[in-house]
Amino acid sequence: MSAEPSDLKTVHVDLGARAYDVLIGSGILARVGDFLSSGEPVAIISDANVGELMGERIQQSVMAAGLSSFLIEVPPGESSKSLDVMAHLLSRLAKKKVPRAGTIIALGGGVIGDLAGFAAASYLRGVNFIQVPTTLLAMVDSSVGGKTGVNLPEGKNLVGAFHQPKLVVADLDTLTTLPPREFAAGMAEVIKYGAIADRALFDRVAKGVKPEDADLADIIEKCVAIKARIVEQDEFEEKGLRALLNFGHTIGHAIEKATKYETYLHGEAIAIGMRAAAWLSVQQAGLPQLDADRIEGALKANDLPISLKPGVSSDSVLAALGNDKKVAADGRNRWVLLSSLGEAKSGCEISSDLASQAVYRLTLK
Ligand SMILES: NC(=O)c1ccc[n+]([C@@H]2O[C@H](COP(=O)([O-])OP(=O)(O)OC[C@H]3O[C@@H](n4cnc5c(N)ncnc54)[C@H](O)[C@@H]3O)[C@@H](O)[C@H]2O)c1
Ligand SMILES: [Zn+2]
Repeated sequence: MSAEPSDLKTVHVDLGARAYDVLIGSGILARVGDFLSSGEPVAIISDANVGELMGERIQQSVMAAGLSSFLIEVPPGESSKSLDVMAHLLSRLAKKKVPRAGTIIALGGGVIGDLAGFAAASYLRGVNFIQVPTTLLAMVDSSVGGKTGVNLPEGKNLVGAFHQPKLVVADLDTLTTLPPREFAAGMAEVIKYGAIADRALFDRVAKGVKPEDADLADIIEKCVAIKARIVEQDEFEEKGLRALLNFGHTIGHAIEKATKYETYLHGEAIAIGMRAAAWLSVQQAGLPQLDADRIEGALKANDLPISLKPGVSSDSVLAALGNDKKVAADGRNRWVLLSSLGEAKSGCEISSDLASQAVYRLTLK
């Protein structure tokens, strides 16, 4: 293995036998091979956009490490997170005779991470898995924590498995080709981390973050560390801790569902959902109004929406909210609320009246 660049940041995710490192730095995509000692052939799974941009670079790096590899590309977009595409991947792996000791690399955003991760969890009951996230959202969120899966026509993420990666390699250089709208969507999750767990991080990102900012690696490292600490304590989402990561997601998911996943990127829907959750936090959890205003300001400073587009009715969002996957057994939605910036609690109950008000306010400018 060659020398580490001095600015390479590492976050260790301490999950005992399933522990792994998240590496964050510039230019590390071309060094993925350095981190592999065995595990051939290496199946690199990507989408057509990312495969075209970076597939060859990663293959060369794997080849330089003396390992064979092949690239599988699927169409870009959420529709590839399906059982059909999964079946296609599994038979490609079988045809290539990838053994149990083989390796799957997910090269792409959250769609590829979830899909390839689920393939890695199920093929031969589990093979080595490496995440190479190429969107901001995947770097700070989906590549860490081991949730993998696909969608069903009946709903999002209804099939899946927990399968932790062996390594996550987040190369900041990959973000230079990411469309600005996708970068902003990732910033919604970054703002979320600050709001639920780190006021200083919130203060920084409230000023707005651009891909070229010198402290981007620092910001990503902080987010990954927050997620890592939460996942370490609640790997399988049993203790309510992992639920903290859902701040803004109860209404956010309802907005995505009401608009058939066509109008908003996930992060955009979550941005609007966070504004509503901040308002609810003021009503129910003692969040100072000034802090709720700062959340709105942070979303705007990062080019994120804070209200529903004309044509998206509050009624349609409320109807979708009634069907939220996270509805508790007693039929009521459980909410993540903030008592202050950097302090969140999960499992909060909100009356349906107050929830309606929160959603209605999203139709106002
Ligand atoms: N597993 C988890 O814990 C978890 C957490 C959050 C979200 N998710 C999932 O993540 C998915 C969303 O992920 P996403 O926002 O990364 O979307 P995505 O994977 O669809 O990527 C967004 C778009 O950007 C393109 N792209 C990716 N990287 C690029 C780059 N560097 N340069 C140019 N184009 C690039 C892709 O081809 C795609 O068109 C959803 O399916 C969601 O359910 C999973
Ligand atoms: Zn999210």
